[in-house]
Amino acid sequence: MDPLPAGDQPTLRGAGLRLRPWRDDDADAVAAACQDPEIQRWTTVPVPYRHEDAAFFVGPLARQTWAEGGALFAVEGAGGLLGSMGLHHLVDGLGAVGYWTVPAARGRGVTSEALRVLSRWLLTERGAVRVELVAEPANTGSCRVAERAGFRREGVLRSRMLLRGERVDVAMYSLLPADLLPGVG
Ligand SMILES: CC(C)(COP(=O)(O)OP(=O)(O)OC[C@H]1O[C@@H](n2cnc3c(N)ncnc32)[C@H](O)[C@@H]1OP(=O)(O)O)[C@@H](O)C(=O)NCCC(=O)NCCS
Repeated sequence: MDPLPAGDQPTLRGAGLRLRPWRDDDADAVAAACQDPEIQRWTTVPVPYRHEDAAFFVGPLARQTWAEGGALFAVEGAGGLLGSMGLHHLVDGLGAVGYWTVPAARGRGVTSEALRVLSRWLLTERGAVRVELVAEPANTGSCRVAERAGFRREGVLRSRMLLRGERVDVAMYSLLPADLLPGVG
C-alpha cells in the first residue's frame, strides 16, 4: 500500500489551465458535459447520466478518491470548466488515469496538456513509478492525447474492459519516470 498523501488535494498548473479539486457547485457543469455522446460512448460514466450522478462524482466520490490515494481534478481555464482528469488509484506505485473534455474545448491541446501536468505530478511528487491509461484503439482522439503527453503504446489487451455490458479490446499506454528525462523517447 502506498503512503496516503498528507493534507488537502492541491491545485496543479499548466499552460492555460489548472487542475483543481472538484467542488459541489461543479455538479451542473458536469451533468451538462456528460450528456455528450462521445463521453457516453468512450468512458464508463453512467448512461443515462443524471444530475445526481454528477453530484456524487464531484462530492462524495472525489473526496473518497483523495482519501484512498487517488485524485479527481476539474480542469479549468479562463472561461470555466474544460474537463475532467483523474487518477483513479495509486497502488504499489502504479497509477491509472482517465479523462474527458467538454465538446467546446476540444481540438486545442487541452487534454494532452492536462494529462502532461497530472502525470508529471504523479511521477515527480506522488512517488508513482508507472502511470498508465487504456483507450479503445478506435478512440483515435484519446490515443493521440496519450502519445502527445509522452505515453508509450505497449500493445492491445484483448477483451480487457467491460464497457456497457460488452467486452472490448484496449490499447495500453504507460509513462515511466525515465520517459521524462531529456533525450529519452
Ligand atoms: C478524446 C478527447 C479527450 C480529446 O480531447 P482534446 O482536448 O480534443 O485533445 P487534444 O486537443 O489534446 O488533442 C491531442 C491530439 O489528439 C488529436 N485528436 C483529438 N481528438 C481527435 C479525434 N477525435 N480524432 C483524431 N484526432 C484527434 C488532436 O488533433 C491532437 O493531435 P496532434 O498531437 O497531432 O496535434 C475528447 O475528444 C473527449 O473528451 N472524448 C470523449 C471522452 C473520451 O474519449 N475520453 C477518453 C476515454 S479513454
